[in-house]
Amino acid sequence: MLIKTVKDVSVKGKKVFARVDFNVPLNENGEIIADVKIKAALPTIRYLLAEGASVILASHLGRPKGKIDEKLRLTPVAERLRELCGAEVIKADEVVGPQVEQLAANLQPGQILLLENVRFHPGEKANDPQLAKAYAQLAELFVSDAFGTAHRAHASNVGVAAFLPAVAGFLMEKEITALSRSLHNPQKPVVAIVGGSKITDKINVLNNFLTFADAILLGGGMANTFLRAKGYKMGKSLLEPDQVGQAKEIMEKAQVCGVNLCLPVDLTVATDLHDEKGAENVPAGAVPQDKMALDIGEKTRAVFAEQIKAAKTIVWNGPLGVFEVSAFAQGTIAVAKAVAAGDAFSIIGGGDVVAAVEQAGVSEQISHLSTGGGATLEFWEGKELPGIAVLQDKQGGKYANTIDCG
Ligand code: 3PG
Repeated sequence: MLIKTVKDVSVKGKKVFARVDFNVPLNENGEIIADVKIKAALPTIRYLLAEGASVILASHLGRPKGKIDEKLRLTPVAERLRELCGAEVIKADEVVGPQVEQLAANLQPGQILLLENVRFHPGEKANDPQLAKAYAQLAELFVSDAFGTAHRAHASNVGVAAFLPAVAGFLMEKEITALSRSLHNPQKPVVAIVGGSKITDKINVLNNFLTFADAILLGGGMANTFLRAKGYKMGKSLLEPDQVGQAKEIMEKAQVCGVNLCLPVDLTVATDLHDEKGAENVPAGAVPQDKMALDIGEKTRAVFAEQIKAAKTIVWNGPLGVFEVSAFAQGTIAVAKAVAAGDAFSIIGGGDVVAAVEQAGVSEQISHLSTGGGATLEFWEGKELPGIAVLQDKQGGKYANTIDCG
């Protein structure tokens, strides 16, 4: 079933309410550190403008909890958008209300109106129908290009679709196509790489990967809990003692399903994450009492690279070490290079791994860098994402985001 996109409807002369994900990282001066998400939405915005639509853009930024937070206004985003797309960008200071209605009513084809951070409004997260209706009254068509928010059921990405015809933008279409390819009869062998600090965040995705992956490579803090489950002493390493049972269960399931669950065979350890000079490589079973595991070790990188080389499909979520610190980023970088060197169809989701891949200088060689973190994870868990489920299919019915992981 194919999703209906902006290309399947007439937009000429129409006002379009487009939900985008401009949730960009900012530094302490409020400057944008990475504009990948803004750039990713440009094809849809440019298309709508070129086809004669006027575009009302809505996005969240951070988690302001339904209140105005001066540091999270979309003003720097509006500036960056102006520079990038060259079109006129009018920035509203409010999410909805008379000022916004006036600006939207006066908006001309080829112009953009960027609403204020939608999460300043308490009705946004609550998916308040009144707020959704207020968004819808500004426009004649709803376009969703906010894949990164698709796992949330909020007013600007789900509620609004009850009042307007709802179609996907090009980014949304690209994300769904790439992610579906990794789940629907993916080319085998499938190698899943899972990192990050906590098993609790990844338990559902691990269980789903067990149903179709040939190998799962584990790293990051969550691998420490698995190593503890094997009876290894882990020194001061961060781990989740209450998840040791869960880790054992996953190891047993992997055996039953015939999935090669690869744990680190060695680790980079140090006294703490500031102790870059003290970084050393030790076997997984020999973490000193006063040291903690902060990255996968050198042998592990080689073992993982072998698995990656044989793969035809690779899915990856979560860094394999404390990648913000150079001495402990090397495992993640080595694995990124191994993925880039192979010829598998590769998808990476989650801002931190995407940043690591860019740091490694290999982002061009990855088949798809997803703009979604939580959304990618929930897609790979096999869940229906509410922000996708409200969109129409090409026949005009509801698009069913059902995933056959069999
Ligand atoms: C993201 O950055 O993953 C998306 O913008 C979603 O943000 P959220 O987790 O605050 O909903």
